[in-house]
Amino acid sequence: MAITNVKGSLPGPKSKALLEKWHKFEADVVGYQAQTVWESGAGVVVTDVDGNRFIDWTSGVLVTNVGHCHPKLVAAVQKAAGQLLNNYECANVQRIQAAEALVKHLPKQLDQCFFLSTGAESTEAAARLMKRKTGKYEILAFEGAFHGRTFGAASLGGMAGPKRMYGPSVPGTIRAAFPNPYRDPNGWCNEGPNFNRYFDYLDQVIMANSTGSLAGVMVEPYQGAAGFIFPPAGWLKKLVEWAHARDLLFTLDEVQSSYGRTGRMWAADHEALDVDLMTIGKAIGCGVPVSAVAARSSVFSCLKKGELSSTLGGNPMSSAAVIAILEIMDDEKLTANSAQIGAYMKDRLTAMMPTCPYLGDVRGMGLVMGLEFVKDKKSKVPAPELIKIVIDTCANRGLLVGSVGMYGNVIRVAPPLVISKAEADESLEIMAGVLKDLKLP
Ligand SMILES: Cc1ncc(COP(=O)(O)O)c(C=O)c1O
Repeated sequence: MAITNVKGSLPGPKSKALLEKWHKFEADVVGYQAQTVWESGAGVVVTDVDGNRFIDWTSGVLVTNVGHCHPKLVAAVQKAAGQLLNNYECANVQRIQAAEALVKHLPKQLDQCFFLSTGAESTEAAARLMKRKTGKYEILAFEGAFHGRTFGAASLGGMAGPKRMYGPSVPGTIRAAFPNPYRDPNGWCNEGPNFNRYFDYLDQVIMANSTGSLAGVMVEPYQGAAGFIFPPAGWLKKLVEWAHARDLLFTLDEVQSSYGRTGRMWAADHEALDVDLMTIGKAIGCGVPVSAVAARSSVFSCLKKGELSSTLGGNPMSSAAVIAILEIMDDEKLTANSAQIGAYMKDRLTAMMPTCPYLGDVRGMGLVMGLEFVKDKKSKVPAPELIKIVIDTCANRGLLVGSVGMYGNVIRVAPPLVISKAEADESLEIMAGVLKDLKLP
């Protein structure tokens, strides 16, 4: 029996009425999503209010790595919520255990963490730490980067979306290009392992733009919001070396790339990156709002008591989620499943490329892949007009996908890491059919 089941065209009658009510009372300012109102989720399957069943390739937005409503996570959160919901900066048992469990899972040089609530908040905390530790105020960040929507985080980001029409950004960001193997006009990506021409360019950027007060580097291991752009192998390793040779601190934004998403617990693990700070969000709570900044204790020690704090950070309920999720990740070997099923799905998606004249690139690692749509494969002119069609057609056939991309032309393939081969196969068949039928409007 099929896992998915969609009756009639979306939105179904209950979804339609609820979506109208939603837009009446809550401002309709979020991005475009499949026209359905979610009611429940289990593993990779989402059911809407009309009883339609979908396989989810979104994981929210790379959040629910242990699957929707994992019973152990739900039980841990329910138990904690029944005991104590908040105690601000006072200690609670779960917070202490969560910090220990998280640090035990981190790359070994990161021996302390601090809990916050959102990814953007962890970006802000990492930026503060880099500035306070060095006494300098500039940060090197990248075109296409996304580190969150608060003003400081958006100022570090290299996507116009969160900044356009909001006036001047926070000063102090020096921005360089991020190497993109699919669009590589400067030929930087085939120059490994040293990437000499890229790093000569980076030195020029610093020479031309820095006032001499560079504190550190902030970078995503792959650019998520810009379209799941993975730099060439070895480039991140070289970037860490480049930074450390200049006495800069190095922050890796693992808000969306961590917790097994790329087929390793941390994206940093692929090249054993010697990062000084890491920002962590999304899957650390799998839907429960929690984030963290992790760093060497020698970095945290620059702060005085009271300099970093958060109303909700480390509350007992979110801390219970942190503990349960790490246990689930270990017990169910979800990182290994991500690597294995991810490789299988990537092979099958790549094999679909000849069937669709607009599918210009299939890229990714583990269970984070991007499908980039272009008007034709030679010119690579982006085709954002296809994205709504793909989202709607997939949803009507039982598959939930979302979009990203600097040009708004990339579909995310990022199911919960619990996805089985049967679930992968059924959802891949849906995508194969959608790609075959796809036409430019
Ligand atoms: C790499 C990265 N950093 C930071 C953020 C911001 O996280 P949040 O939306 O929880 O503030 C995101 C969110 O998409 C992200 O992808």
